[in-house]
Amino acid sequence: MGYDLDSFIDPSGTNSIKWEFMSLFAPNATEKAIPMWVADMDFPCAEPILAALHRRVDRQIFGYSTHRTAEYFRAVCGWYQHRFNWYVNSTDLVYSPGVVPALSYLIHILTEPGDGVIIQRPVYAPFSSVIEKQGRTLVNNPLVNRGGYYVMDFDDLERKAKEPGTKLMLLCSPHNPVGRVWKGDELKKLGQICLENDLLIISDEIHCDLVRKGIKHTPLVTLFPEHKNKIITATAPSKTFNIAGMHLSNIIIHDRKIRKKWLEYVSGQLRLSAPDPLAIVAAQAAYCLGEEWLEEVLAYLDNNISFLESYLQEHLPEARCTPLEGTYLAWVDLRAYGYTQEELKEKILEEAQVLIEEGTIFGEEGKGFIRINIACPINILKEGLKRIAGVLNPKGKEA
Ligand SMILES: Cc1ncc(COP(=O)(O)O)c(C=O)c1O
Repeated sequence: MGYDLDSFIDPSGTNSIKWEFMSLFAPNATEKAIPMWVADMDFPCAEPILAALHRRVDRQIFGYSTHRTAEYFRAVCGWYQHRFNWYVNSTDLVYSPGVVPALSYLIHILTEPGDGVIIQRPVYAPFSSVIEKQGRTLVNNPLVNRGGYYVMDFDDLERKAKEPGTKLMLLCSPHNPVGRVWKGDELKKLGQICLENDLLIISDEIHCDLVRKGIKHTPLVTLFPEHKNKIITATAPSKTFNIAGMHLSNIIIHDRKIRKKWLEYVSGQLRLSAPDPLAIVAAQAAYCLGEEWLEEVLAYLDNNISFLESYLQEHLPEARCTPLEGTYLAWVDLRAYGYTQEELKEKILEEAQVLIEEGTIFGEEGKGFIRINIACPINILKEGLKRIAGVLNPKGKEA
């Protein structure tokens, strides 16, 4: 179709947290700040989603709604089948207003206070808070940075999985922020260790569709068809199609007893069983008709990633960008510049007025790193990088 991904869409008046309310999160942000933090894209929405929403709005009915229709299940399960050759039975699919809330509900129903939950830091910050804020024990199995490429430490994982208090593993696949798309053999090893030690696994696969050309995402559960009752997969159209504000995600729970617990707690006690009617329409249109848009966006992201790499090489040559296999969140190692965490924050967030995520929010392993959201028109990316290079390497080559 040829989307214009270079043009910036004015977000004013749209209630955008990323653009309009950034000062809530970054109090020193000024009018000229460029937000390259929260994981929204700055691209136009897919046309089929817009068309479906327009048609739906014209129906004038916005009462309580349910997604439990054959059409919805066909759209969602059809996408998994088509993209990953992954058969999902619609009865296993439950609604959640978000993946993070789902992680929180699942930890609540599957573990007891004090139980150990394994995560692999540096990792998406809410992974830690959903564990700690519910009184569970965070068990860190840190990723290993091998010359800029992150791998899992299976010996450490095995040791921690064996500890009697450990009950659950929370996997980030693809991984935010290190950008790895785990290979089949890595997932196999991780799954075997968890299963041998009787751990349940929650696999957050929200970034599953956002992988670079030539890279393949494997849904963890497809590797363990015999043990699928021990694996819960969290997915959503939100990151893939840039509709996070619609608050609809699909959680796949194969085990009937766990599903029953989920329904009792989430639908029964919390009363969270009804998605927004517009979100249902958007998700259906996205999964049925949004693939062309996604492919265009993925190609654009590939180009942005190459641009980022060559820009850093030229203007911030000591920076190391972890090879980005998936997600649109670049993980950049700035340790060689020797700035303290405070100095990095002051320079990038305050002097340069570029809102990035500081590495330490993903765990102390992220010290000296930043995460940059590159899902934006290339001119915005260029300006953001120019400002960052200007403050970190002021004597460097003029951008
Ligand atoms: C790994 C991961 N999980 C979950 C989320 C957010 O999910 P939700 O907005 O559906 O709660 C994000 C957002 O960036 C993420 O990176």
